[in-house]
Amino acid sequence: MIRIAVLLSGRGSNFAAIDDAIVNGTLDAEIVCVISNRPDARGIELARERRHHAHIVDHREFPSRAAHEEEVLRILETARTDYIVLAGYMRLLSADFVARYPKRILNIHPSLLPAFPGTDAQAQAVAYGVKVSGCTVHFVTEKLDDGPILVQRCVNVFPEDTADTLSARILVQEHIAYVEALEQVAKGQSGKETKDS
Ligand code: GRF
Repeated sequence: MIRIAVLLSGRGSNFAAIDDAIVNGTLDAEIVCVISNRPDARGIELARERRHHAHIVDHREFPSRAAHEEEVLRILETARTDYIVLAGYMRLLSADFVARYPKRILNIHPSLLPAFPGTDAQAQAVAYGVKVSGCTVHFVTEKLDDGPILVQRCVNVFPEDTADTLSARILVQEHIAYVEALEQVAKGQSGKETKDS
C-alpha cells in the first residue's frame, strides 16, 4: 500500500475524490497527511472532518521559500511519505524539493498538457477556441506544469462554454484521472524505480 501526502491550497475536491476511492476500496493507498499553505483552505477543513492528519504551513509565516519547504519536508518525512500528490497546491516547488522525491510527486492540471500551462488553463482554452480540452496528471519536475504524463482525460468544448462551465466539465474528469494515475503508481506500472517499503 502506498503512503501518500496531499498538498493543497483551496477547495480540495481532488483530495476528497482520492480519499473516497481509498475508502470505497478502489485505490490501495493510505493518506498519511494533508498539508495546506493556506489557513482558509476548504480542503484542510475537509481533511479534518475526514480525520486525517491535517497541517497548515502558511508560507507567509516563513522568512524564505527554502524555510517554508523545509517545514513541509519535515512533516512529509515524519509521516513516511512515499508519494506527494499536489491537488490544487498553488506553490511552485523548488528544484531542491523536487530532487528529494524524484518521480514521487504528482500534479493535476486542468488542460491537455503541453497546451495551456499556468493559471486559468480553462479560460485559456475557451479564449483559444479549442474544441477539445481535458486534464493531465503528470510527474512533477522543477518546471511549471511539466513532466512525464501518467493520465489524460478529454472533454468537448462547446461554443457556448465559459471558463466556469468548462472547468466544471473538466473537474468531473480530474477526479477520475487522479484516481487512475494513483492506481497505476500503486500497481507499480509507472516509474521503473518503485521503492521497496
Ligand atoms: C483543479 O482544477 C486542478 O486541476 C488545479 O487546481 C484545481 C484544484 O481543485 N491544479 P480542487 O481544490 O482539487 O477542488
